Amino acid sequence: MTPSFQQTYGPWAVVAGASQGIGAAFSQEIARQGVNVIMIARTLAPLEATAQAIRQQFRVQVRTHSLDLATPDLAEQFQAIIQDVEVGLLIYNAAASEIKPYVQSSLDSKLRQLDLNCRGPLTLTSLCGEKMATRGRGGLLLMSSATSLRGTELLVTYAATKAFNTTLAEGLWQELSPKGVHVLGVVAGAIRTPNYENSNPQQNRIHATAQAPETLAQNALARLGRGYPIWFSSWQVRLSELLFSRLLPRSTGIRMLGRITRQLYPNVGDLE
Ligand SMILES: NC(=O)c1ccc[n+]([C@@H]2O[C@H](COP(=O)([O-])OP(=O)(O)OC[C@H]3O[C@@H](n4cnc5c(N)ncnc54)[C@H](OP(=O)(O)O)[C@@H]3O)[C@@H](O)[C@H]2O)c1
Repeated sequence: MTPSFQQTYGPWAVVAGASQGIGAAFSQEIARQGVNVIMIARTLAPLEATAQAIRQQFRVQVRTHSLDLATPDLAEQFQAIIQDVEVGLLIYNAAASEIKPYVQSSLDSKLRQLDLNCRGPLTLTSLCGEKMATRGRGGLLLMSSATSLRGTELLVTYAATKAFNTTLAEGLWQELSPKGVHVLGVVAGAIRTPNYENSNPQQNRIHATAQAPETLAQNALARLGRGYPIWFSSWQVRLSELLFSRLLPRSTGIRMLGRITRQLYPNVGDLE
């Protein structure tokens, strides 16, 4: 008999970046499937509000922790959070994305994106992955982005940090799958999260395909452990990747994506 979600990924899941959007949707879906959840974000009030709504709906334990995942002592602080639980599933969802021309973005902002988007998942997958491999079961899910597939104008730093996550997921999948640990990198297109909506995107072909966070979370969890290292969140993302990688020179793909990103954010910065 196939083991249940709870048997495979319980008793505890960690969602890093959990108070709203995709992270809240992941927490909700994990709780629905009977696994206890540790929810992490910086601001406690919205995190606790989301957690309370989940507690009222499902008979699982939900803990909240205020933690900046970009902090230099992340490893120590995270270990203290998980010291008394067995983590069967880690979802690294939090990310910083600044939409600005590279030369107008401060070095501090770029390094903060690097810390949160790369150092964070590296640290948490190291701390959880080792124990999962020893136990012979578990799951690691990293949120990446369609921008990870090639360099992207206005999102230069963010796209590069997301490429790190896509590649990290692929390598972990190769190493840890034989040890019973499921790994998935989620290459997402536009998702209607508060963060995305607040970025004030204009109507274009990317915006038209934007999905609900709940759809993304349910579909991504269903793909975990199905034998793929990477999952594209929609057929549009998969099709554009096929087109860009098989039919067009890489430079043409970069220019086309840049044009689409500019259409999405026509009022951001001036590259002249
Ligand atoms: N939305 C999209 O269109 C889209 C598309 C492709 C990929 N993605 C990926 O999907 C993931 C989630 O995106 P989203 O739009 O749902 O983001 P979001 O709405 O900004 O939510 C991010 C969550 O992470 C938390 N967070 C942010 N910075 C943090 C930090 N330094 N330490 C701890 N927690 C932090 C936030 O709470 P606090 O602010 O209180 O900390 C929030 O709970 C990201 O990895 C992103 O790259 C999103």
